[in-house]
Amino acid sequence: MTRSRSLIRLVAVALSAGVALGAVAARAEELSLVSGAVGNDLAELEAQLKIFTEKTGHTVKVVNMPASTTDQFGQYRLWLSAGNADIDVYRTDVIWAPQLAEHFVDLTEAAKDVAKDHFPAIIESQTVNGKLVALPMFTDAPALYYRKDLLEKYGKQPPKTWDEMAATAKEIQDKEREAGSAQLWGFVFQANAYEGLTCNALEWIKSFGGGQIVEADGTISVNNEKAAKALDTVKTWVGSIAPEGVLAYQEEDARGLWQTGNAVFMRNWPYAYALGNGDDSAVKGKFDVTTLPVGAEGESSAATLGGWNLAVAKYSTKQEAAIELALYLASAEAQKYRALQNSRLPTIEALYDDPEIQEKQPIIPRWKEVFQNAVPRPSAPTKTKYNEVSSEFWTAVHNTLSGDGDGATNLKKLAARLKRLQGSSW
Ligand code: GLC
Repeated sequence: MTRSRSLIRLVAVALSAGVALGAVAARAEELSLVSGAVGNDLAELEAQLKIFTEKTGHTVKVVNMPASTTDQFGQYRLWLSAGNADIDVYRTDVIWAPQLAEHFVDLTEAAKDVAKDHFPAIIESQTVNGKLVALPMFTDAPALYYRKDLLEKYGKQPPKTWDEMAATAKEIQDKEREAGSAQLWGFVFQANAYEGLTCNALEWIKSFGGGQIVEADGTISVNNEKAAKALDTVKTWVGSIAPEGVLAYQEEDARGLWQTGNAVFMRNWPYAYALGNGDDSAVKGKFDVTTLPVGAEGESSAATLGGWNLAVAKYSTKQEAAIELALYLASAEAQKYRALQNSRLPTIEALYDDPEIQEKQPIIPRWKEVFQNAVPRPSAPTKTKYNEVSSEFWTAVHNTLSGDGDGATNLKKLAARLKRLQGSSW
């Protein structure tokens, strides 16, 4: 090799090394991901982000939000409307897609090889006018948690109807209190004035045969006798089988009381299953889950469909890396980890047949059918007005449960408000 040739080679090697280094440097982004959390969500997320960083070189800062989806939505809507470039990836609730779609990147192309692995209905729920707004992280459908030991002790079966549930709750509560368990309550659920109450109340109303608030075709159906009866029934529980404080309970409040062994029944999402069986739980090994009870004869159990997704902000200046992050957290590997650690329901069908998941979190294979039959909230028919519709609904329900007007009166007023919101169309 002549001198000049070797010099050229050296330069070429140096250049390509430089380019490669440059490429790596440009690729290693500092991303920010905003997420609310309940239970162990945050610890699980941080553990997964560590793996993501090892794999890709990207680092991720988590911006932690309050647990309430309602609070998160309010903040995100403000940030997104202002074109905030500080957040790259948002953890989004299943109901938000139609309202926030315009602010997110279309992930259709990025997800073209993996979208088919997820349940089609979930992908569809995140698709707005042909745009894939977010990638599914986990799905959600609630359970009726019950204390096996207490039901056995009093010779009771897991209840099939809400009335049976209330009667069993009352009997066990009374007898256990007499025997010295002064703190025990029959049933805990989520009745704070927020999105979680919309989920609970939709379940009561639907299982009483009272419809889905606003039907898939946009009809406002909530002002009916069965719906009113459902709410009046639940009102009788407050202060009798449920503490008065339930009117301020969110998921974690209910779980807190349940996990210290102070409730016979609890309505909650599957994340409470893994936590309830944790070493620090007073109910470890003492509980099981069943589907939520039925309201009226001939009706079926209704579970509200929930779930969380990952969306990339249009305003992110690091979209490529942000998409990698969303793809990773939605991947089979990440979903399996989440299922094993936090009993979160995968959105990837194959994982329901995974023997490790089946063994460690038996609620997951059992809940496949429950979430597939779950009732969606009316976010698709009410489009950009969903949050307002839901907020009017939970207010009417909260008023009823607080004794401020009965079901019939409050649902009549609600229907009039919804009609105004609807205008000439949703
Ligand atoms: C759960 C559900 C979510 C729902 C929320 C209500 O997090 O996954 O969809 O909006 O509960 O509190």
